[in-house]
Amino acid sequence: MTSATPSPASSRFPAGRRAFPHRDLIAIGSLERHEILYLLAEAEQYVAFNRQAAKHAETLAGLTIINAFFENSTRTLLSFEIAGKRLGADVVNMHAAQSSVKKGETLIDTAVTLNAMRADAIVIRHGSSGATQLIADKVDCPVLNAGDGQHEHPTQALLDALALRHALRAKGHVAEDFTGLTVTICGDILHSRVARSNILCLQAMGATVRLCAPPALIPQGVETMVAEVHNRFNAALAGADVVMMLRLQNERMDGQFIPSPREYRHLYGLTQDRLALAAPDAVVMHPGPMNRGIEIDSDVADMPGRSIITGQVEMGVAMRMACLDVLTRKARGVAGWGDGEWL
Ligand code: NCD
Repeated sequence: MTSATPSPASSRFPAGRRAFPHRDLIAIGSLERHEILYLLAEAEQYVAFNRQAAKHAETLAGLTIINAFFENSTRTLLSFEIAGKRLGADVVNMHAAQSSVKKGETLIDTAVTLNAMRADAIVIRHGSSGATQLIADKVDCPVLNAGDGQHEHPTQALLDALALRHALRAKGHVAEDFTGLTVTICGDILHSRVARSNILCLQAMGATVRLCAPPALIPQGVETMVAEVHNRFNAALAGADVVMMLRLQNERMDGQFIPSPREYRHLYGLTQDRLALAAPDAVVMHPGPMNRGIEIDSDVADMPGRSIITGQVEMGVAMRMACLDVLTRKARGVAGWGDGEWL
């Protein structure tokens, strides 16, 4: 099969509204619902594109994308790299461990350096909340947040929405949003940028969100953001349509938050028995990396027809292709980026 080059779906945004008037993608919290739906619609073409044998387009030919990762990553870094390459861009990865950050360079000096190299898009992962915005304020090209501290991880929430949409569609769910669905997010909510971005994205898409964690891992004030907050997993699972599990982010913990991993598994691990408390065909999600046998048992993580964890990884590439495509449209002079001034 020959690979068709995808074309922009610029007709899909609401009349009178601009499709995606943002230069950067820093937070789901700064997107409107129609902007989220637009990015999801744009990503669909790349899901199909990525399933072809030959998957190389020239959409971003000549552009340089820098992935600057100041924290470890497998899926996010690889999928941004694959996304850029499949779109024909020159992709360069900067690992903080090998960079001048280790020599004491400030984040602002690093940003100015990246900017001087005339990158056309910069993807940043950083351990500090707000670091991505700080860099965005210093550079002239689009900046994509690949996770900043405990703040946000917007492309993860978008790819999760895309993966969930595909899973629901396979079950005959025809609506394009998640109205009427209950999603339970369980795990280390306190340290999770994935949880924060997903709460905002799922709710913008119409879902009811329940959170579940030990009391020490629930952020203060989060009850004002969601429908329900639970400390007991069984109650949080009752009738849920989607169960999203999160890892204990030990590297962000300053002190002892749980008595022991064994006790944590006993109270908050997703086992087959527990999953039976959710809706009969409930979907299981996890952003990865998983700690099998702690927050999720292997037989649940690998359960055919229920777990969409590998589907989330597949959608990650498509979603990141859509984000890189949409955010570079203004620079490429392509219609459909918003056709006005940046917000
Ligand atoms: C998450 C992250 O880094 O925030 N991983 C990811 O991007 N898939 C979640 C985690 O590290 O637990």
